[in-house]
Amino acid sequence: MGYYDSEENVQQYIAMAEGYDGRDLVTILAQHLPAGSTVLELGMGPGKDLVLLGEHFQVTGSDSSPVFVERYRTAFPAADVLLLDAVTLETDRRFDAIYSNKVLYHLSRQELAQSIQRQAEVLNANGILLHSFWLGEGEEDFSGLRSVYYTEESLREVIGEEYEVIEFGSYLEMEPDDSCYVVLKKRTRS
Ligand SMILES: C[S@@+](CC[C@H](N)C(=O)[O-])C[C@H]1O[C@@H](n2cnc3c(N)ncnc32)[C@H](O)[C@@H]1O
Repeated sequence: MGYYDSEENVQQYIAMAEGYDGRDLVTILAQHLPAGSTVLELGMGPGKDLVLLGEHFQVTGSDSSPVFVERYRTAFPAADVLLLDAVTLETDRRFDAIYSNKVLYHLSRQELAQSIQRQAEVLNANGILLHSFWLGEGEEDFSGLRSVYYTEESLREVIGEEYEVIEFGSYLEMEPDDSCYVVLKKRTRS
C-alpha cells in the first residue's frame, strides 16, 4: 500500500497543503499551450490545480491513489478523472499536454525516465510537458515516501534527447528557490 493510499495520510496532506496551489505553473503552461487544448494532470491529489487548469483547458485529472480519485469524483461527479500510475500511464487516450505539480519527485530516477518516455507516447504531435520538482540534490525516505531532488542538470540527464527543454525555472514554494519546473516539447522525428 502506497503512502497516499491511506485516508489518514491524505487528510494530513490536505491540511498541510492548505494555502498552496500551482496557479503560477498553470499561468506558465497557458503561455505555451493554446486555450482549449487537452491536458492530463498526473498526481492531482486534492485537485486544486485541476480546477485552475480547467479555466483554460479541457482537463483530465489522475492519481494513483484511489482515495484522492474517489474524493474528487464525489465532489465533482461529472469530472473526467482516471486512476493512473504516472510510471506506466496505462491509457489509450492522447493529450496535448501533461502536467504535474510535485508528483514525479516521488519516483526513483529510473521510474522518472520510464515515465517521461511513456509520456512521449501519450502526447499528441507537438505536445508539451510541464512538471515541477523540489530543487536540490540527493534523495530522502520519509515513512516509505521517497523524495528525489533535482537540478536543471540532473533533470536534463533523466529527460534525454526525446524532448527539447523549452523553459526551466526555480521558484519559492516554502523557501526561496526550493522548487523548480521544466517545460518540455516532444521533438518531431525527421
Ligand atoms: C505531494 S502530492 C501533490 C498533489 C498535488 N499535485 C498538489 O499539488 O497538491 C503527490 C501526489 O502524487 C501522487 N502520486 C505519487 N506517486 C504517484 C504515481 N506513481 N502515479 C500517480 N500519482 C502519484 C500522490 O497520490 C499525491 O496525490
